[in-house]
Amino acid sequence: MHDDRWDAVDAYTTGLLQPADPALEAALKDSAVLPNIAVSAPQGQFLHLLARTISARRILEIGTLGGYSAIWMGRALPEGGRLISLELDERRAEVARRNIARAGLDGNVEVRVGPALDSLAQLRADQAEAFDLVFIDADKRNAPEYFSNAVDLSHPGSLIVVDNVVRQGKLIETQSNDPDTDGMRRLIEQMGADRRITPAVIQTVGVKGWDGFALALVLES
Ligand code: SAH
Ligand code: DHB
Ligand code: MG
Repeated sequence: MHDDRWDAVDAYTTGLLQPADPALEAALKDSAVLPNIAVSAPQGQFLHLLARTISARRILEIGTLGGYSAIWMGRALPEGGRLISLELDERRAEVARRNIARAGLDGNVEVRVGPALDSLAQLRADQAEAFDLVFIDADKRNAPEYFSNAVDLSHPGSLIVVDNVVRQGKLIETQSNDPDTDGMRRLIEQMGADRRITPAVIQTVGVKGWDGFALALVLES
């Protein structure tokens, strides 16, 4: 499902709200060899604004790709702030590291390679300082486990954002036979039952079609 006006509205608003940005444009250009699934420009700006709103000093991202969303969020960090981004694929991580360095963020942003569930276990074993913001945007079938880990790596007041929960409406398909849709369905059920968080889901349209974010404010961790 797609309406050309969704793209036109994204173009119109970003034209007014996002000045030319060589580092972000170069990051997209050098990500052309990768799947075209980074957050859109308006979504990146939204994540940036969320991070600024909560004065995030420590950010965790699950799913780096070419580093486009990492650059948007990394730019929200104060001096000395830190973003750790987890990526399965070494080649994608290399592209991301180059893009992040070109944006001048290599001092603040670190890409860790490996299955995110392993990297998350390592962060917990290391008793990593709690993250203020977690952005979950990797393989959708593992979203429930990523969310549990995100809560455990948070503090009261942390914000968790999950991309791609609506999946062009597939979220409501009860017999989807799609492990990724199923992952998102289990995630929303889990969020509804988790008394440690207060949740919201918001649908979106735009250049990436019809999708949506799940958000959770952590109350206790
Ligand atoms: N957040 C990025 C887009 C991420 S796309 C942006 O908006 O710019 C999803 C990424 O998750 C892909 O690069 C994929 O390789 C990665 N991924 C998939 N399965 C993973 C896993 N098990 N562990 C870590 N990363 C994974
Ligand atoms: C896909 C993954 C994403 O994170 C996204 O935002 C859009 C599409 C995908 O795997 O198809
Ligand atoms: Mg996504």
